[in-house]
Amino acid sequence: MFSNERRRFLRQAANGAMAWGLTSLFGDSLLRGQPGPGSGDTARVYLDSRRITAPLDRNLFGSFLEHLGRAIYEGIFEPGSKLSDANGFRKDVMEEVRQMGVPIIRYPGGNFVSGYNWLDGVGPKESRPRVLDKAWNSINTNQFGTNEFMAWCKAVGTEPLMGLNLGTGTPEEAAALVEYCNVDKGTKWSDLRRKHGFAEPYGVKHWCLGNEMDGPWQIGHMTATEYGLKAQDAARQMRYVDPSLQLIACGSSGPFMPTYLEWDREVLEQCYEYVDGLSLHRYFSNSGQETGGDSAKFLAMNLSMEKQIEETVAVCDLVGGHKRSPKKLWLSFDEWNVWYRARSGDATNGHHQQAPHLLEEVYNLEDALLVGGLANSLLRHADRVKVACLAQLINVIAPIMTNANGLLHQTIYYPYTWALQYARGSVLNLLVESPAYEVSNMGQVPFVDVAGTLNPQDGKVALFILNRDLSKPYVVEISWQDKSPGQVLVGTVLTGTDLKAFNTFEAPLNVAPQTFAKPTTANGRTKFEVPPRSYTAIQWSA
Ligand code: AHR
Repeated sequence: MFSNERRRFLRQAANGAMAWGLTSLFGDSLLRGQPGPGSGDTARVYLDSRRITAPLDRNLFGSFLEHLGRAIYEGIFEPGSKLSDANGFRKDVMEEVRQMGVPIIRYPGGNFVSGYNWLDGVGPKESRPRVLDKAWNSINTNQFGTNEFMAWCKAVGTEPLMGLNLGTGTPEEAAALVEYCNVDKGTKWSDLRRKHGFAEPYGVKHWCLGNEMDGPWQIGHMTATEYGLKAQDAARQMRYVDPSLQLIACGSSGPFMPTYLEWDREVLEQCYEYVDGLSLHRYFSNSGQETGGDSAKFLAMNLSMEKQIEETVAVCDLVGGHKRSPKKLWLSFDEWNVWYRARSGDATNGHHQQAPHLLEEVYNLEDALLVGGLANSLLRHADRVKVACLAQLINVIAPIMTNANGLLHQTIYYPYTWALQYARGSVLNLLVESPAYEVSNMGQVPFVDVAGTLNPQDGKVALFILNRDLSKPYVVEISWQDKSPGQVLVGTVLTGTDLKAFNTFEAPLNVAPQTFAKPTTANGRTKFEVPPRSYTAIQWSA
């Protein structure tokens, strides 16, 4: 597999474009916690608690729910189900999302939002229209709309990230939705909310000004300048309603677009001073042009996400510089995941059905390993990426699937949940030395990829380690530069012999985490071994 591998070390600060490697400790019955005879090469991690990349914004590990397929209907909302409450909300799903601690959830789309009239989804349910959604060719009964979403967010303890229709919708309609959601009373739209039975305003802070408006597939697709002016107009009107909003302009849909980066520049030339963030989207594939099915290359693709982030930051700062603006935009990576198999839902496959089975991607072990790598990449860029959403959350390209009797954790559930649970406080700027291998069009890629956090509140340290090597374990040696760790609180690893293994309702633990024996620290060093094809999370007390 690594015939072109060059055994040399990469030594770089973990924030660089192609660095890091390293790991942690663990060990269980299957896996050696302490390196033994025959152990693999070594990756070294230098951890200095004084070297911090940025405070970690919890919204870095948000998610996304779109009116698409079975995400809303049959996903979070299933009136009549034995598993639902009086509102029709699936109780098992609510409990799961609450436990996961998802901080922010984008809604209602996605492509869907560009043809959505939010007024269809509020008011008495019996009067709401059945609408043909032209993004996914599906029927939307509108029985779940803005007020239901706000109630669901409150119940699961998450914050809404509201998408606005800048396709068929107007800036006036966008501002009306802000007024409906955020103004207390005494205006047309706030009084309508009250009439609908919701006295308290919601105080929605984060708003996306449209979705993927650079894409010819998008309803209302337009040129960058047209969109930039429309976003500016919407932002201005929305801020008259509520000056405290945080607004996200639509960036490029990804590096595959012919207008990649140029779109971002032209849009920002129009609306830089009116927005706070710019969106990025990216879906990774282990097929075709991207990797040709080469898993070693696929597991390096998180470095391509980092390149995309760095290029987009450069464009934001270029425009900010042109404008002599004191303001720095942050990024909202509000759609990211692996997605390449279940793509047939595009355009026509909704067949005018309610809750059709669309985009029900089945995730395998290698997908989960890359999702772990992508989480590492987001952590390393936490200085500029303040919001990011795993796309999506339930049933549609999702970590969680439902059926009539319960729910299933797909493989990608584990690395995402570990980031939610253990990445806390501040992101560490780690120095990692790792052996590397050659990847076409990417150069030298470290076998071992590490990101980490330190929580100044409680002193806990967490490391997240991807071993990209398909056949070899690595010894990870952590060199504690300025402090020694306390006890190992958590050591968990996702690995297996079959990269294509996946979970089903019949075999839900086919790919599941294993625990490690706790490695010990001596003389400021912790040494342990990570298995081939693995993603590991380790947490220490202060
Ligand atoms: O998440 C699925 C779709 O992917 C979204 O609707 C769209 O924004 C993107 O192209």
